[in-house]
Amino acid sequence: MYRTHTCGELRAHHDSQSVILAGWVHRRRDHGPLIFVDLRDRYGLTQVVFDAANDASVHAIASEARSEFVLQVTGNVRKRPAEAINPELGTGEIELVATAVSVLNPAKQTPLMINRDGNEEEPLRLKYRYLDLRRERMQRNLILRHRFVKFIRDFLDKENFIEIETPILTKSTPEGARDYLVPSRVHDGEFFALPQSPQQMKQLLMVAGYDRYFQIARCFRDEDLRADRQPEFTQLDMEMAFVEMEDVLDVVERLFTAMVPAVIPHKRTISPFMRLTYAEALERFGSDKPDLRYGLELIKLNDIVANSAFTVLSSAVASGGQVKGICVPSIANYSRKQIDEITDIARQNGAKGLMWAAVPADGGELRSSFAKQVSTDEMQAILAAMNAQPGDMVLIVADTTKVVTAVLDKLRREFANRLNLADPNLMAFAWVIDFPLLEWDAEDNRWNAAHHPFTAPLDSDVALMDTDPGNVRAKAYDLVLNGYEVASGSVRIHRREVQQKLFDLLGISRETSLAQFGHMLEAFEFGAPPHAGIAPGIDRIAMILADEATIREVVAFPKTQQAQDLMMGAPSPVDEKQLRDLHIKLR
Ligand code: AMO
Repeated sequence: MYRTHTCGELRAHHDSQSVILAGWVHRRRDHGPLIFVDLRDRYGLTQVVFDAANDASVHAIASEARSEFVLQVTGNVRKRPAEAINPELGTGEIELVATAVSVLNPAKQTPLMINRDGNEEEPLRLKYRYLDLRRERMQRNLILRHRFVKFIRDFLDKENFIEIETPILTKSTPEGARDYLVPSRVHDGEFFALPQSPQQMKQLLMVAGYDRYFQIARCFRDEDLRADRQPEFTQLDMEMAFVEMEDVLDVVERLFTAMVPAVIPHKRTISPFMRLTYAEALERFGSDKPDLRYGLELIKLNDIVANSAFTVLSSAVASGGQVKGICVPSIANYSRKQIDEITDIARQNGAKGLMWAAVPADGGELRSSFAKQVSTDEMQAILAAMNAQPGDMVLIVADTTKVVTAVLDKLRREFANRLNLADPNLMAFAWVIDFPLLEWDAEDNRWNAAHHPFTAPLDSDVALMDTDPGNVRAKAYDLVLNGYEVASGSVRIHRREVQQKLFDLLGISRETSLAQFGHMLEAFEFGAPPHAGIAPGIDRIAMILADEATIREVVAFPKTQQAQDLMMGAPSPVDEKQLRDLHIKLR
């Protein structure tokens, strides 16, 4: 038996018991004849005392031990005197007086300090990920993620969902990214694709009659990486038959509302989840994934400035664009340098400039970049529309709707950050609905599916598919959380003729649609029930639960931003023989 207890287990009531612990040397304090070792495993730390007066040979071994040595210690539990109790530590009431010790494995000096949450460069952490994972922060994150996923499984099981695995070697489903391909040895010149999501499989499971399905599904997408994107990531993939959008939203809303207090009790949600249409989200927050923990809403000034003598304002309106702004509290005293900085942020996001007006807190004179260009009445009307109070500064952009929206979204997030407006313990889930069905691809001169090509149009908009495709809204919905898109889904098309019509609109020829999606079209003719689904991103939600800034912190073995595994050294070249077997010649 390697151990009788874990390093996080012993309490005062174990006093005088003889126990065996095994773990890593977390910290070692050498006071000559007395050596203290904090022994660590994933359950906690226990202070072990090696006293030369008790046993010189045991003490001698301890004096050789270094950080991260793996030890097995036999000893007697002893209550600490009152002044030595450590209330920070679960085991802080006791210590273990060693009677025997063996070094199960020594350790070289580690490139990362395990007992400190270091701020090394990330590549070093990723190269030695198995050491990084020993750290408390990473253990906390992975345990949190485990609890989160366990909660999902238990909850959905109670709701009659069944977990079904779908293949990793499959045919690609268009989710907007490049595929990872796997060459077939058996079929010369042919390839599997790793699934970008199990989209088609889960719809086929509905045709197969498994009306409430879920899967903790690994997805693969060869796309540009960001803090909230990995080339392989995990979705909670769900699909339901005989449902409408409301049924899907209901289950998911109940799932996450129950999950938060169960998994991370100091955080809270808002019930019911707020709902915004896509158009409203962009209009009010400049984003289809708004952070709703704070206000700083975008205020439209078009009506006020349409006839302004200041042409920067009036011409933006006349040319079909927008004039909009946000009112930021408590920054009226920003210096020119600080204002230049935020103007740079606006420029980097496409604006030609940024107009500003600051209402001094002490009732002094208004400072503004454009007061000379507009009448006093106009300025007053703008400040009133934006509800600017003493101490506030309004920031205004006049441009195309696209630029105005993008710039104000950025500034809104920037000031929430600077002014600490977002409560980190608030989980502000919200639904965004009524997305457009199609997006115009100006480069290729064609329509793309905004979500994916299996998404149904709103019943009221079906007729527009022929006349005004750009304004067809979809039965698609996103779940957003604290400024991130954390889930996406839709009611699906379940009739062959509607699916065919959409493929036609997307410019997918009959031939190609049969070759790529023939199995779907055919399945729809064998009794496909109405169905709908959604896929919450596990990594992103875990990241937010854990208060981390990237999903890499909640993935055990993530890839770098350059899509590499630094620990394994992947991707890597392969043998010429392997390539030949796969019928591949490198160019
Ligand atoms: P979608 O492509 O929107 O929808 O993905 C669903 C959710 O998965 C997460 N996600 C990612 N997380 C980490 N890294 C990535 N590269 C990444 N890409 C996506 C996000 C996103 O909201 N088949 C549809 C779902 C459906 O219609 O049921 C789909 O995959 O949280």
